[in-house]
Amino acid sequence: MTNNGSRRILVTSALPYINGVKHLGNLAGSMLPADIYARFQRLRGHDVLYICATDEHGTPAELAAQAAGIDVRAYCDEQHEIQKKAGDDFLLSYDHFGRSSGEENARLTQHFANVLEANDLIEERVMEQVYSVDDGRFLPDRYVEGTCPHCAFEKARGDQCDNCGRLLDPVDLINPYSAVSGSKNVEIRETRHLFLQQSKMQDTIREWIEAATDWPPLARSIALKWLDEGLRDRAITRDLSWGVPVLNPDGSVREGFENKVFYVWFDAPIEYIGATEEWAKINGEPDAWRRWWRTDEGADDVEYVQFMGKDNVAFHTVGFPVTILGSKEPWKLVDSLKAFNWVTWYGGKFSTSNKRGVFMDQALDLLPADYWRWYLTSNAPEGSDAAFTWEGFQSAINSDLANVLGNFVNRITKYCASKFDGKVPDAGEPGDAEAWIAAELETRLPQLVQHYENMEFRKAAAETRAIWAAGNEYLTKAEPWVKYKTDVDAAAIGVRTGLNLAALFGIIAQPIIPEAAAMILDALGVPNDRRTMTPEALSDVSALLDALPRGHEITPPDVLFRKIEDEQVAEWTERFGGEPA
Ligand code: MF3
Ligand code: ZN
Repeated sequence: MTNNGSRRILVTSALPYINGVKHLGNLAGSMLPADIYARFQRLRGHDVLYICATDEHGTPAELAAQAAGIDVRAYCDEQHEIQKKAGDDFLLSYDHFGRSSGEENARLTQHFANVLEANDLIEERVMEQVYSVDDGRFLPDRYVEGTCPHCAFEKARGDQCDNCGRLLDPVDLINPYSAVSGSKNVEIRETRHLFLQQSKMQDTIREWIEAATDWPPLARSIALKWLDEGLRDRAITRDLSWGVPVLNPDGSVREGFENKVFYVWFDAPIEYIGATEEWAKINGEPDAWRRWWRTDEGADDVEYVQFMGKDNVAFHTVGFPVTILGSKEPWKLVDSLKAFNWVTWYGGKFSTSNKRGVFMDQALDLLPADYWRWYLTSNAPEGSDAAFTWEGFQSAINSDLANVLGNFVNRITKYCASKFDGKVPDAGEPGDAEAWIAAELETRLPQLVQHYENMEFRKAAAETRAIWAAGNEYLTKAEPWVKYKTDVDAAAIGVRTGLNLAALFGIIAQPIIPEAAAMILDALGVPNDRRTMTPEALSDVSALLDALPRGHEITPPDVLFRKIEDEQVAEWTERFGGEPA
């Protein structure tokens, strides 16, 4: 906390892998909630840095580039731009969207490996790895498939079983085959690699996670489950050419590692730091990243929050912390992790090949970002998996956005334009209806803030909607259109309060639906410095209900939300899939 009471909050969302635009489920479980949290905390007046990047190394990128017939770096250049655009179009407010293939990450990764080795946490070991004779290459973990030794699932990947969730070692698979070619002509060969001795850090990691009682429950429970299974030493290098080279502290290539690179999961989280360095350079303050990451250089007062899908928790609660803590250097460690379950497509998997599900770029060809942002947040996969359905989407948009919010704003602004010259009325004194809505806000606004602070986004959306709904109820009680016939002043207070409610609804909508919120606030002429959600701004409800200067001119906004028609639902179901057959 700085002297003026503002906090410094570092936000990262799991780095999307480079090969292709992500689907709505990926978005909903990492980047979108991170963005909403970052936006909320900025509106609270805090100093927020939201960092993300593409995760570019590893075999999938190499194979995808090969399939596209281009050089892997060129492939990544192209895909990075595509993902950056998809994020921008989805209004993800990254301070920087970096690239794990940048030089900052390479240098940091080599640095960490060298200090970990100096701290006796790395050793060279000869390991057995699956080699595909027909493919002419060692197969990385997830390109070996076979039967899970724990649950007998037949399509377990070598790194992790999608059925029972356990992390695997590919040599443990029963009946392994190459997922690249399908060839069963695979054999186990010896290869030398660097091993990070996570087992030596078991107690340190457990102590840290056991003390982290304030984390949202999902991340912590997954982390404790891993610890109960015992931390295993992990190879952090691979037989590959695309990745961070393995260098000695003097910069020369490590002997025997000429054709090897660091494992993508070793370098990817380090890119959180690397991307912050990129951000600092771009801003012309090349050392500015240090006050976010070095606790000896100002980062001791940073709150660091990570967002990710549940499959990423182990890497963020064990893998990366072993790197950070094992370095024994003053690096900033994560303070809280928010993990998400899956968004399913009607209870099943998103799948490009089976045409099931919508990807980020396709979504924006159909409707504006806010529509998706609203549904994915109000239906966030927090307590459990959450199904995307066109019917659920349609009803959330039509009822919450079009009816509850959109109609309210249109109705009150149009009425003001037609009866009060489009000016915020000055006359009238608050009465029972105004006291009622004030009391609603007194309890609801603090709850809304608390849900955001707790990173409970589904509840935050529900509370936002409840506040909009209370506004509608207020208008039903205040009835300015009825009162106007007999008592214009009594109508005036209803319109003034209604306009101020519309402004407030726009303000609290900003984290989730920033574009529509801006349209509302622009229409009402709310200046930028009056759009915050700081404690001061939200604490005085009667001031909030009289915030727009009286006599100030407003313009009814264009239609804020278009309803989704049944025909559209039918068409999209046809195109992107619906209820599984
Ligand atoms: N690319 C990984 C995924 O898509 C996430 C990487 S997160 C980081 O699951 F920690 F490595 F950065
Ligand atoms: Zn299994």
